[in-house]
Amino acid sequence: MKKKDSGQSDRSLKEVRQEIAEHDELYYKLSQPKISDQQYDKLKRELESLEAEADPLGLFSTDGGETEVPSSDQGPVVGDDRLDEFKSHRHLTPMLSLDNTYDEGEFLEFDARLRRIFEVDSLPYVVEPKIDGVAVSLTYENGILRSAVTRGNGVEGDIITQNIQHIDALPRAIKSPGLPKVIEIRGEIYMSHLEFLRINEARDKSALPLYANPRNLASGTVKLLDPKEAMERKLEIVLYGLGGCLPQDHFKSLSSFHRSLGEWGMPVVEFFKCVDSAKDAWSAILELDDLRHDYVYPTDGAVVKLDSFSMQEDAGHTAKSPRWAIAYKFESERQETLLEDIIVQVGRTGAITPVACLRPVQLAGTIVSRASLHNSDEIARKDIRVGDSVIVEKAGEIIPQVLEVVLAKRSDASEAYVFPRKCPKCDQDLIRLESETAWRCPNYSCLEQIKGRLEYFASRGCMDIENLGEAVIDQLVELGLARSIPDLYHLRFDQVLGLEGFAEKSAQNLIDALSDSKDREFWRVLCGLGIKHVGSSASKDLASKFGGLPALMDASVEELLAIDGVGAIMAQSIKDFFSHSENLEATKQLIDLGLRCEQAIQASQSSIFEGKTFVLTGTLESMNREQATLMIESHGGRVSGSVSKKTDFLLAGIGGGSKLQKAERLGVDVLTEASFLKLIDEN
Ligand code: IVH
Repeated sequence: MKKKDSGQSDRSLKEVRQEIAEHDELYYKLSQPKISDQQYDKLKRELESLEAEADPLGLFSTDGGETEVPSSDQGPVVGDDRLDEFKSHRHLTPMLSLDNTYDEGEFLEFDARLRRIFEVDSLPYVVEPKIDGVAVSLTYENGILRSAVTRGNGVEGDIITQNIQHIDALPRAIKSPGLPKVIEIRGEIYMSHLEFLRINEARDKSALPLYANPRNLASGTVKLLDPKEAMERKLEIVLYGLGGCLPQDHFKSLSSFHRSLGEWGMPVVEFFKCVDSAKDAWSAILELDDLRHDYVYPTDGAVVKLDSFSMQEDAGHTAKSPRWAIAYKFESERQETLLEDIIVQVGRTGAITPVACLRPVQLAGTIVSRASLHNSDEIARKDIRVGDSVIVEKAGEIIPQVLEVVLAKRSDASEAYVFPRKCPKCDQDLIRLESETAWRCPNYSCLEQIKGRLEYFASRGCMDIENLGEAVIDQLVELGLARSIPDLYHLRFDQVLGLEGFAEKSAQNLIDALSDSKDREFWRVLCGLGIKHVGSSASKDLASKFGGLPALMDASVEELLAIDGVGAIMAQSIKDFFSHSENLEATKQLIDLGLRCEQAIQASQSSIFEGKTFVLTGTLESMNREQATLMIESHGGRVSGSVSKKTDFLLAGIGGGSKLQKAERLGVDVLTEASFLKLIDEN
């Protein structure tokens, strides 16, 4: 085996993994994707090839070619949308993801692989639209709808029944003789283009930030904590798949199941083509691409599936996706328009992002008037100039991008764009570090950076302070009423009342929301500080390991590095943050103001696990991971993320994969859930 240059390739593998984890968090937890599906798929492919390079024999891969169910310890095999605030539900059959392709050749390879398995010349497939929404699993028991659940980590998801109750088309009961006793019906919750436009228009009027796309808004809506709020946004549902079914083998094929769905009054996809070969499937895909723009739901591709359930079972699946289905993603729609101006925005870390102001153009369901230009190199590389005709596309139907300039239409008088050298807000000279693509405003007191920091602190993923959005923060900062996070907690009622858009009630609501936010968990406060590279999951880890801000502020790089999930970049970033006097001062003030800057410590119940390190894997039956962690900690032990020689016990639930193998290899004691509980009981 080629000896790997461990430093270099390890770092890049880790970096790509971290980048993917960050995008997973943005997508699944915060509903705020920053990149398109195409870009995400590209990252995933990059990771796959790096992994193959690092492990050419597949010795440590989670999918050694064997059929395997996803396990929650293998990182985000299918992502993880679960939130602490929701009750979990275990799927009878795992909810997998689909392999994606943008290429006809790859689609034909998919067919060739299956034909080799079944030793036939052609196979019967079903072709249907890929709806761009949120996956859902409905469980009907004796014909009564019991729960609607998100995909979660594939094994268990969040119960969101309360947030989709207002969908009229969702049958609460199925009346049909011979209906299976328990059946999981899989489908997609979506928001129509029309509803999406209605909501965004209203937000635009209130100067609130616009939602990125219908899928994003749908996924944010199913995860609202207040079902009444969810009712104000019209969600819809369409159903296409069979999950678990008791008794099994009730249905023979997807086409017969699709027919039954229709007979039960379920909303089904209108394009459902049964074909006998890959060639006909390909024609159906092209036909669908023509028709899909008229559908009420957003679509981003076609899904081709083997029709026969027994053949699906024989084809099997990998840890991530079935081998009997593939999603062919349609190329994004493109439009030509005029680039009227280029402006630059200043982010909370001072990063300068150039933005194209476009003559508004209809693109894949929305009107586009802005597009990110990423950074100065990108503008120079594409030689994008103000006044150019440009081709814009919505990669993955999310973020509009300027693809290229139509050079033939460029005016002779046009001049190359000169990237500003000074901050558009505070006029400081911009700087650019060698390792970075972005120019930065180095002025910590730049009003745009302050706004960004306050917005981030108040955002849903951090402190979740209601009614403290962009427009309000803009006024607070411009008027000098808040220039740091602690200033928010000194705001007086009369000051808020004086802001545009506030009346007595709303002003009091904001004061109350701020005061209530002092009770938010410590990890939210930590996350809200906006330390570079420290998102919500790192904040949770740091909160439980350090217990409070004072300990974290004093931690050395070595102590930080000892924590699973904290790498050199994050450790340095934490050190840098607290070495900055303004950050240090603001943090101390937050402690004095009474925000929760300590993790509530459970009283220790015994010390049977004193000095012992546990790793958790798989899904536990009687408790979730947080509860198991608390139990271990309250008996003196600690929980770590990965198995190593230092691990004392692996607590293994159902579906534990690679960690279990590693523990066995290293001779680490493996505890089942029952033996773990027995140990605690006996002590
Ligand atoms: S079948 C075992 N059919 O795409 C795979 N999925 O990337 C079962 N999706 O999580 C999925 N339209 O949310 C299937 N017609 C369709 C779909 C579809 C949209 C979503 C689904 C899934 C994701 C996979």
